Amino acid sequence: MRTSVGIIGAGPAGLLLSHLLRQAGIENVVLENRTRDYVEHRQRAGVLEQNTVDALRSSGAGERMDRLGLRHDGIELRFAREGHRVDFPSHTGGRSVMVYAQTEVVKDLIALSERQGGTIRFEAEALAIEKADTGSPLIRYRHEGAEHTLECDIVAACDGFHGIGRQSMPPSLLRTWSHEYPFAWLGILADVPPSCDELIYANHERGFALHSMRSPQVSRLYLQVAPDEDLNAWPDERIWAELDARFELPGWSLEHGPITEKGITPMRSFVAEPLRYGRLFLAGDAAHIVPPTGAKGLNLAAADATLLAAAIIQAHDKGDESLLDAYSETALRRVWRAEHFSYFMTTMLHRDPHADEFAHRLQLSNLRYIASSEAAAASLAENYVGLPVV
Ligand code: APR
Ligand code: PHB
Repeated sequence: MRTSVGIIGAGPAGLLLSHLLRQAGIENVVLENRTRDYVEHRQRAGVLEQNTVDALRSSGAGERMDRLGLRHDGIELRFAREGHRVDFPSHTGGRSVMVYAQTEVVKDLIALSERQGGTIRFEAEALAIEKADTGSPLIRYRHEGAEHTLECDIVAACDGFHGIGRQSMPPSLLRTWSHEYPFAWLGILADVPPSCDELIYANHERGFALHSMRSPQVSRLYLQVAPDEDLNAWPDERIWAELDARFELPGWSLEHGPITEKGITPMRSFVAEPLRYGRLFLAGDAAHIVPPTGAKGLNLAAADATLLAAAIIQAHDKGDESLLDAYSETALRRVWRAEHFSYFMTTMLHRDPHADEFAHRLQLSNLRYIASSEAAAASLAENYVGLPVV
């Protein structure tokens, strides 16, 4: 089989790239080793920054998001038993975010591909990327028990942190940076209306907690736990009691309800450079990971896909490869900004079990600074809603 762009991975990066290329009339094939049902139902992040909303909307993939997504104009920082709101539009020239689950974005893009005659091959595992340093790279993959070859002009590895894309780059070319955090998140979905209109990020002496949501009927909540935490040690009553304690605020209470899903999310920062080797390009989690506190993982994946699509379209339509040549550097500049912001939010809001009281006092001082200074609030707001893609 032959196509113009071979895309590995049907996460947000691969699906958005495929969609944008298809809109521009560029043939592409997506290979995804999981089933459609699996990728449509795994629970992931839920905040779309303004750029991601704009990219989905302007490419015709925003209809359901605009109907079901919840526009949020701010967040609450809760600490020392006080709540402080950070407003977005007033600090960012009118920008905001959309609370809409990543899994819904994935469903929308798969449905569009199906309607428009795109090709997504599920249960197709990419085994190797070959000849990336030539003008005709290829992907070897396994589908329905047989091995196949997909020949293309460009390979886009959108295959997540454990994919083969990054591992197919020559080790002498690749540089990586990483940082581990001494905690993880225990996340739940609960069939109960959110107890707030906007997300609450809480710094509490018992640890970080986050109140997010999926819809007016469904709450999404997270608790900081140990990296090796055993989910079995967290029956529902313990989770609600811990959430109550960490969100404690006079005159406010958390509504409880049936928990429909529980999981543990590890926390890690990681960047690989460069994002290109010959005709092989990396996008999304394949190239970088952020801890979820800044809500940047999905948005970085979408920004990479947007940039890479524009570069491929220019090369395809005009024979001009300047954007392709600039892709790695342009994308990485944004990636490092998001890495810093995610690290900043994570270290400001979590209780590091190894840190001393001095570190805690610095966290509180920083939170008070954001709560009282327009300049500090503006800095958080512009990073949270997302800086311009280029
Ligand atoms: N062959 C085919 N598909 C593969 C292979 C392979 N060898 N290896 C991995 N995949 C698939 C995975 O099954 C997954 O569906 O690649 C996809 C990668 O998707 P994501 O992990 O969602 O990564 P990405 O699209 O970059 O989106 C990043 O997802 O992990 C979250 O927080 C992260 O929100 C961020 C977003
Ligand atoms: C979520 O809703 O899943 C979510 C929201 C904000 C974050 C991380 C996750 O920072």
